[in-house]
Amino acid sequence: MDSRKNSDLLIIKLGGSIITFKDKPLTPNYHAIEKLSGVIKDLKKLYKIIIVHGGGSFGHYWSVKYDMHTKPSIYPDEGVSRVNESMIKLNHIIIEKFISRDLKPFSIHASSFVFNNMECSRDRIMDMIDMIENNDIIPITYGDVVHTTKGNFSILSGDSLMKILSINLNPLFSIFTTNVDGIYDSLGNGKIISNLLVSENNGLLINTDANIEFTSMPFDVTGGMKRKLSESINIVKNGIPVYLINGFYPERMMGVVNGGDFIGTSIKLQQGGKGW
Ligand code: IPE
Repeated sequence: MDSRKNSDLLIIKLGGSIITFKDKPLTPNYHAIEKLSGVIKDLKKLYKIIIVHGGGSFGHYWSVKYDMHTKPSIYPDEGVSRVNESMIKLNHIIIEKFISRDLKPFSIHASSFVFNNMECSRDRIMDMIDMIENNDIIPITYGDVVHTTKGNFSILSGDSLMKILSINLNPLFSIFTTNVDGIYDSLGNGKIISNLLVSENNGLLINTDANIEFTSMPFDVTGGMKRKLSESINIVKNGIPVYLINGFYPERMMGVVNGGDFIGTSIKLQQGGKGW
């Protein structure tokens, strides 16, 4: 595998909890989308960018209603259509905003990256690099329902797409925007862990702020964040630093790329020694 770093590439996930109001079915958060696109405009002056977005109260609303999951299964046809349609709608809102900001988005469906319930060939995924190397486009993909085999469908999350794209395209950083400031430490004191390392030996997370090696996931990390963290660990194991940033303050991403101070959690690979 060609492990060359694409050091002018950032892969950024726009979390569903930012771009939609999670508790209001099918309701986009236009203000948050506007704010994010402003910062992406600034980042685009410095980097090539690939965007992945989540489903929030669009895709998740219908996937819950029809009990659809990441596990391939025969799901109700109407559920398949509803999830798919709602994600097209949400994607369209993002695309329109990006066009109005002259960000030149290009929408790519999640099923371009998987086939038969497996990742497509690396060449297929690398096509994205060919696409952005010689032009000014921002490819945008998003979590959606995908066909696996023989009429089975599954939900392919934006977090899984982040992993597939990051591992194959080897960006400088992968950034997940969520509705929290980062990973909170497990002491209930509201403190964010600013630096986590993934151990080269056993894949465990090390909190470098407190010299703690977690034997399991930090216990106040639940649900969505737990999935994000496990996909992040997979990305980091491939040598790509991951940043978890509050998407309501997207300007924090500028701190990440400028190497300055920022509020959020960075997750990197432990390289030699203890790393703290
Ligand atoms: C959405 O992707 C998948 C669908 C339900 C269609 P994600 O699971 O990554 O979305 P968010 O970011 O958590 O909302």
